[in-house]
Amino acid sequence: MNTTRKEKVNRVVLIGAGLVGSSYAFALINQAVTQELVIIDLDKEKAMGDAMDLNHGKAFSPSYTNTWYGDYNDCSDADIVCICAGANQKPGETRLDLVEKNMKIFKGIVGDVMDSGFDGIFLIATNPVDILTQATQVFSGLPKERVIGSGTTLDTARFRFLLSDYFNVATQNVHAYIIGEHGDTELPVWSNATIGGVPISNYIDTKEGCHQEDLDPIFENVRDAAYQIIQKKGATHYGIAMSLVRVTKAILGNENSILTVSSYLNGEYGATDVYAGVPTIVNRQGVREVLEMRLTDKEQQQFDHSIETLKNTMNPALE
Ligand code: 2OP
Repeated sequence: MNTTRKEKVNRVVLIGAGLVGSSYAFALINQAVTQELVIIDLDKEKAMGDAMDLNHGKAFSPSYTNTWYGDYNDCSDADIVCICAGANQKPGETRLDLVEKNMKIFKGIVGDVMDSGFDGIFLIATNPVDILTQATQVFSGLPKERVIGSGTTLDTARFRFLLSDYFNVATQNVHAYIIGEHGDTELPVWSNATIGGVPISNYIDTKEGCHQEDLDPIFENVRDAAYQIIQKKGATHYGIAMSLVRVTKAILGNENSILTVSSYLNGEYGATDVYAGVPTIVNRQGVREVLEMRLTDKEQQQFDHSIETLKNTMNPALE
């Protein structure tokens, strides 16, 4: 009698082995997130080289991630398909400028993934991420909760990092969200920002060295971080890769963690039929629930503008 149980192993398929995809693969393995990692890229030699290179570090990783260069057939058994493929911003380009060229690429990729019989969760990283996440849901026909974008998870991480530096406290004790478009119209939710459970407003002008006029520049550095990094090194990839790993862990670990992924809005924050970065409970089923914070009138107006910007770009691109 065969007594060995076929253990269900987690499989992540990465499509796009560019700087973001390769950094994501490297971080996945070093954080021991999944048992299987398949790498797909138009440049087969690159994908094969990445798989070989990553496998050679196996002896040093916390646990074994079976990594190989694969093809779309490997998606049929995948729990997550993460798409990092497409063009990235050049200096001076906005994320929204990429919509036309990347929409075409996505139509092909998503069709090939679905032809494999894929029935898992899409995790989208390519920009403009909110629009390409919605496009992936439309092209795939998967339930909306199983199509997720990296959204403003990286922006929120940048925000928490800069606030922790300013207030000299551990990042883990800073809770503050960036919501809306992952892009120029994103906004900080100052009214809900806390440090150790204490509203940031309590620290301003009371705690030594904390001043209201410092807060806007902190947000501006978050919003413009990608431009600054792209100007210096040509692309960003480590921060977004680590954000993608965080979302992957929340899904595979069935964590019910709250992350500002790009989620489908069906009335939350007054928005409908659009994907945007908002606090979302993420677990093994994908999006469990969108959390609605109470926004100030100013924050609501900024959010409405962000949604309008996304819709004005999304609708023509999907026609
Ligand atoms: C970032 O924000 C480019 O969207 C990428 O780093």
